[in-house]
Amino acid sequence: LIEELGIAFITMHFLTPSIYYVVALGWLRSNKRSGDKTELSVDPPLVSVIIPTYNEAKAIIQKLNNVYSQDYPRDRFEVIIVDSGSTDRTVELIHEWIKGHDGINVRVIEEGARMGKMHALNTALKYAKGDIIVITDADSAWTQDSLRNAVTWLMTDGVGAVSCNKIPRTDKDVEAEYRSYYGLLRIAESRKFSSAIFHGELAAYRRDLLEKIGGFPMDVGADDSHTAGLISMLGYRAIIPENVRCIEYVPSKGYWMWRIRRAQHLIQHFLRILKYMVTNGKELPRDYRQIMLYESYLHLINPWLFVIGFVLVIISAMHGAIIPIVLILIGMVLLAIRFFRTWITTQVILVVASIRNLWNKE
Ligand code: GDD
Ligand code: MN
Repeated sequence: LIEELGIAFITMHFLTPSIYYVVALGWLRSNKRSGDKTELSVDPPLVSVIIPTYNEAKAIIQKLNNVYSQDYPRDRFEVIIVDSGSTDRTVELIHEWIKGHDGINVRVIEEGARMGKMHALNTALKYAKGDIIVITDADSAWTQDSLRNAVTWLMTDGVGAVSCNKIPRTDKDVEAEYRSYYGLLRIAESRKFSSAIFHGELAAYRRDLLEKIGGFPMDVGADDSHTAGLISMLGYRAIIPENVRCIEYVPSKGYWMWRIRRAQHLIQHFLRILKYMVTNGKELPRDYRQIMLYESYLHLINPWLFVIGFVLVIISAMHGAIIPIVLILIGMVLLAIRFFRTWITTQVILVVASIRNLWNKE
């Protein structure tokens, strides 16, 4: 029985995401709802770009330069930086930068103490004048047309939030591979209805909808994905279109802990959305429910099938069962393929992250 169970778990583990991938490719082909759009409406809306910072002296100057060089009328956006007691030169550097740049409205708000990114975002929201609110991490950059494209999408009927395709800057091939697979799913889901996941490198929201959901959620780690989720549950689309792109500077120090923390945040997000779906599922958009059922299964349950199946297969292989031995050999050969390595790594990270969530939610 151990042998059969092990094989069944492993098969299930690989079958479900493959099916989802095929389904997603179908969405990509059949849905033209988010083809490329680049024309900005005649009257560009006022945009507030919010940058939360905590000890970002290394990144902040490139960030400001990057925002400054966006292809969007400079008198139609403001930049609000919320710093929460950085102990490095972040704030000083920002003031120096402001002195050297004209024609752009940059405002610095200093929160006395560090109370987390979400707290900082809600503070900034009180000062923001824009009809569109764009959040961006200091350690990231946008391609030049991304702000304009994101705003254009937000002006489209039924769209409530927009995020970006990530272009990772990293020496870790694992990270790059991870992005190409997941990136395609994000675009496909966006064509169907909403992306299950949003990115802090560029997360743009309609202000009226942010107010409807009561500001940024304070109790879920993945603030970006969860805000998008709350907006989707109101019936608006939260999309990642092809022409909105961002660069993420992947940390090379502490990379694995960084991956685990992010996985923890995503797990918190999916658990919460799942709870809403169980309690008032009928009220949620059907397409969104479908996407979130798949994705929460893939993030919350599917990784466990691999880990448990793997243990069972090893046990029966040690007892000399033939199929498990063959499976393990195949697995070892497949490890030569980068995609397979990436997949397995991600599964293990998700399992570690859900266990760690039990005592440290950070
Ligand atoms: N004001 C303020 N106060 N800003 C903060 C604080 C805080 O307490 N903590 C972090 N920040 C800022 C950082 O300076 C950075 O600009 C941004 O928030 C993101 O923080 P990172 O430390 O770079 O986050 P990350 O890369 O590990 O996490 C990513 O995933 C999270 C979800 O799992 C980012 O995309 C986050 O934005 C996202 O919430
Ligand atoms: Mn970061």
